[in-house]
Amino acid sequence: MTILITGGAGYIGSHCCVTFLEAGHDVVVVDNLANSSEESLKRVERITGRTVPFEPVDIRDQQELERVLRQYECTGAVHFAGAKIVGESITNPLSYYDNNVVGTQRLLSAMDKLEIRNVIFSSSANVYGPPSMLPVTESHPTGPLSPYGRTKAIVETMLSDLAASNPAWRIAMLRYFNPVGAHESGLIGEDPQDVPTNLMPYIAQVAVGRREQLTVYGNDYETRDGTGVRDYIHVVDLVEGHLKAYEALKALPDDRNCFTVNLGTGTGYSVLEMVRAFERASNKEIPYTIAPRRDGDVAECYADTELAARTIDWRAKRDLTAMCHDTWNWICKNPRGYGE
Ligand code: NAD
Ligand code: WQD
Repeated sequence: MTILITGGAGYIGSHCCVTFLEAGHDVVVVDNLANSSEESLKRVERITGRTVPFEPVDIRDQQELERVLRQYECTGAVHFAGAKIVGESITNPLSYYDNNVVGTQRLLSAMDKLEIRNVIFSSSANVYGPPSMLPVTESHPTGPLSPYGRTKAIVETMLSDLAASNPAWRIAMLRYFNPVGAHESGLIGEDPQDVPTNLMPYIAQVAVGRREQLTVYGNDYETRDGTGVRDYIHVVDLVEGHLKAYEALKALPDDRNCFTVNLGTGTGYSVLEMVRAFERASNKEIPYTIAPRRDGDVAECYADTELAARTIDWRAKRDLTAMCHDTWNWICKNPRGYGE
């Protein structure tokens, strides 16, 4: 019962390996290490006391994927591999379509050929575009504003078509809100290769002294303190949602062999609330300046979590204090990420 974890060396994938291994599954990781390091998997082995087979394969290489799926007798896949930086997708859309859309098509073709038809897909709240109602339910219209978000929406369509084509497929599409935090051991966590574009890793790097100050993008939104509000979710809660989704696949009937759910907490926090929470957890001051709004940002976005609770019997458990504490623990122990 080996599960293929694509992108398993990355931030969310490495945490997923821990959760699936601790639940008694075997895993095999394929990753081209474009945005990660094999060190994360050595740390997963330390946490779990289990071996993590690693195959340095690009998901666009269908033949190699077929070899791995066959060799490890995989029964399903959790598919994280892809590129995820919104700004980069605007300047280099072709590489995003290639990696995220073509890569996923090759993975699904390999799985289909070998009749391995259980898959969990990492989608994103980015598929919704600007919310027209809050909290955002799964039936909110999609309308992503970036090529990155469009690659996710296209893959969701591809997966729905695949599910409709053959009742043997079992497919879960999980729309993540804003994953943050780290494993409580501080051995694995988020390790951005470049200057972080996301809020939490940026705050953490300021707190640990790697960067001077945070730039807050806009304090003139119609929110309680004028700064943007998001639904931050602890990465361990997020991957526990994947385990629940994987278990739920088995129980799906042939005529409803595919589902889409939000993974968030349902609670929004503003940028300044995040800064204050991190200051409390780290006992460090986070200096910041206010700058104009960032292009493409929305004022407020948080999830409706009821469908996930009903469909996969899952709710996030960890609060903002745990998210900040675990991020601080990770960065204190690894101020330069896996690079040290
Ligand atoms: P990450 O960059 O840490 O992990 C992605 C992993 O995929 C990396 O290890 C990278 O080396 C690997 N990869 C990329 N292209 C590959 C390819 N062609 N072949 C093989 N491996 C490849 O990112 P993450 O934050 O762990 O995100 C995982 C998934 O979740 C992504 O699909 C991302 O779009 C999605 N997601 C992330 C967030 C977030 O805020 N972190 C939010 C919503 C959705
Ligand atoms: C959060 C808030 C910023 C950085 C993106 C993707 C989304 C998902 C998660 C992949 C906003 C503010 C940020 C900074 C700031 N990823 N901010 N200063 O934009 O909600 O979502 O990451 O799927 O798809 O779009 O997350 O962490 O970038 O920003 O003031 O240096 O923090 O303006 O209000 P976002 P974020």
